Amino acid sequence: MDTVDFATLDQVQRREAAAVLRGALASFASGYAGPGEAEAEVALLSNQEAWLGYAALEDGRVAGWIGAIRAYSHGWELHPLVVAPARQRNGIGSALLTALEARARREGILALFLGSDDDYGGTTLYGHDLWSDVGHHSATVQPTARGHALSFYRRHGFQVIGVLPDVNGFGRPDILLAKRL
Ligand SMILES: CC(C)(COP(=O)(O)OP(=O)(O)OC[C@H]1O[C@@H](n2cnc3c(N)ncnc32)[C@H](O)[C@@H]1OP(=O)(O)O)[C@@H](O)C(=O)NCCC(=O)NCCS
Repeated sequence: MDTVDFATLDQVQRREAAAVLRGALASFASGYAGPGEAEAEVALLSNQEAWLGYAALEDGRVAGWIGAIRAYSHGWELHPLVVAPARQRNGIGSALLTALEARARREGILALFLGSDDDYGGTTLYGHDLWSDVGHHSATVQPTARGHALSFYRRHGFQVIGVLPDVNGFGRPDILLAKRL
């Protein structure tokens, strides 16, 4: 597997990146399932000066990709991180995150953060009214048997710093994670 700057991808590989985005987020209501949505997101991000990314290539084909938005002077928002369903749990997501973190450190970035939605039942927060004690729910959230990227990010040193209740509909929060670099 090679990790390359997203900016070097050709048009065919950008279409592959869009297909990976659509496929990886297929179980999310907030995914890019509609016609052309994933392609539009790839075009939008890669034309944005504040965005950078890396792609994992296997035999020249895109197996996964990661991006970040230069949101603050010393903090980047990770968006997105996706690995083709058939290639998950093979270390590709970890390699992409490592590449992005190395770049961030080189640029003096101190914190990475992201929102990871649960609009399908991947965590214990799904379906609940979280407003009564947001801090408690942030501190105690766990993945369910359906699985959630939360496990991946915790494994890589991210911590849950909060939740945004109901932002994808009642009981469908966004889970905010951050990591000190
Ligand atoms: C989350 C994602 C990017 C991880 O990429 P990946 O290449 O599958 O992850 P890796 O193989 O590098 O996993 C490293 C470790 O993270 C953890 N992990 C990864 N995916 C996991 C899952 N679905 N459930 C539980 N733990 C998981 C495991 O500890 C894993 O190590 P192991 O396989 O030795 O047990 C990928 O599964 C994906 O694209 N998921 C769908 C889209 C998504 O949720 N993206 C994040 C949105 S914020």
